[in-house]
Amino acid sequence: MVERETWATRVGFLVAAIGSAVGLGNLWQFPFKTAANGGAAFVVFYLIAVVLIGFPAMLAEFVIGRRTNRNVVDAFDELGGPGWRILGGLALLTGFWVLSYYNVVGGWVMRYVLGSATGAYFGDPGGYFNAIASGPEAIAAQLLFLGISVGIVALGIENGIEKATKVMVPAIVVLMIALAVWAFTLDGAMEGVSYFLSPDIDSLVSNAGAVVPDAVGQAFFTLSLGMGIMITYASYLGEDDNLPLDGGIIVVSNTLIGVLAGLVVFPLLFANNVDPATGGPAALFVAVASAFANLPAGQILGVVFFGVVALAALSSAISLLEVTVSYATDNFDVSRPVLSVSAGVLLFLLGLPSTLDTGDAGGPSVWFGWFDAMAYNLFLPLSALFIVVFVGWLLAREAVSELRTGSESIPSFGPIWLWSLRTVVLVGIVVTLGLGFQSLFL
Ligand code: PFF
Ligand code: NA
Repeated sequence: MVERETWATRVGFLVAAIGSAVGLGNLWQFPFKTAANGGAAFVVFYLIAVVLIGFPAMLAEFVIGRRTNRNVVDAFDELGGPGWRILGGLALLTGFWVLSYYNVVGGWVMRYVLGSATGAYFGDPGGYFNAIASGPEAIAAQLLFLGISVGIVALGIENGIEKATKVMVPAIVVLMIALAVWAFTLDGAMEGVSYFLSPDIDSLVSNAGAVVPDAVGQAFFTLSLGMGIMITYASYLGEDDNLPLDGGIIVVSNTLIGVLAGLVVFPLLFANNVDPATGGPAALFVAVASAFANLPAGQILGVVFFGVVALAALSSAISLLEVTVSYATDNFDVSRPVLSVSAGVLLFLLGLPSTLDTGDAGGPSVWFGWFDAMAYNLFLPLSALFIVVFVGWLLAREAVSELRTGSESIPSFGPIWLWSLRTVVLVGIVVTLGLGFQSLFL
């Protein structure tokens, strides 16, 4: 058997994991889900969900990956026995499912880098989006985005993912800060900031039932949980990493970049009198894009903004692709590049429903929304639930000892973590699943 790869450095792992976490979830979904759920009230629930549910769940995935140094399917096998492979399979398929339409949105973003450079959408942002969101244009863009991810993953952990994210993630951070500083200077920016950051307590309390499941789903999605990503990335770790500390760094970085994204998007919208509640999936592409259309240096700013989004989307897509490719390289005697391309072909086919069927007006297909809703409301929480139960009850003590943090650790952290998996995290996921199920099928 060929020796399994590892990260070259601890920073390499951290940067790759941050690259996975920071993605379309932060830059595309978070702003429009915030707007759809009443602004800052949603942000409060989201932050609580990230800390109390997302962080412990991330550590559960780390434990599975690092304990076994195996891909997601074989990791469950090694820890629980062959019957548990099905849980790894569910995580893998959930990731495959999400990636199929994530690639489509990634394609739109790349298309908008070009569209900003040429000013193509400036005259009619809504019409432009409808023209490129589905059909042949969308397929071509999706292929380009997918091709780049396949190329990076084909190069392997150290030479592909680690090298690529070491360039991408710092670029994302620097450019986002620059964009946020610039957005502050716009006339009317403060209105956007306060919409985003000052919660209205009354609406917060009265809408809790509707907002909580979205906030929890968003926390899982944004931290790349429930799809085997953090299991797979941690499987390339050595024994000496401090998992709680690494997890904390990843969660805090992802949250800060998410807040930065809001500080770019909302001032931009309010300064240009665009209602943030319009749009759903189109919000970034129509509302934000029309803001660029109105600004003096709109072309350059548009290229920078959509360029950042493209980098963030790519560094996330490769992490999802790696889940499948890692499984395949561990199990088939076929080279990594061939397996990466094969996974790419399957993903392309699975993405076709999301690009093909164009409604009368064009725009994103009906399938696209269905794929997204199924992922958020059903597959992600379900897969996360199984992982939490597996680690919380089946591994239990063993998991706590894997979490060991070295001599300087806080001795009580492990037991508190285990307790939180069995209570807060479990209840949070079950409630989310119940409400999500209701919104999907009832
Ligand atoms: N954390 C990523 C994000 O917020 O965009 C989640 C993710 C989704 C990663 C889909 C990878 C992916 F393909
Ligand atoms: Na994210």
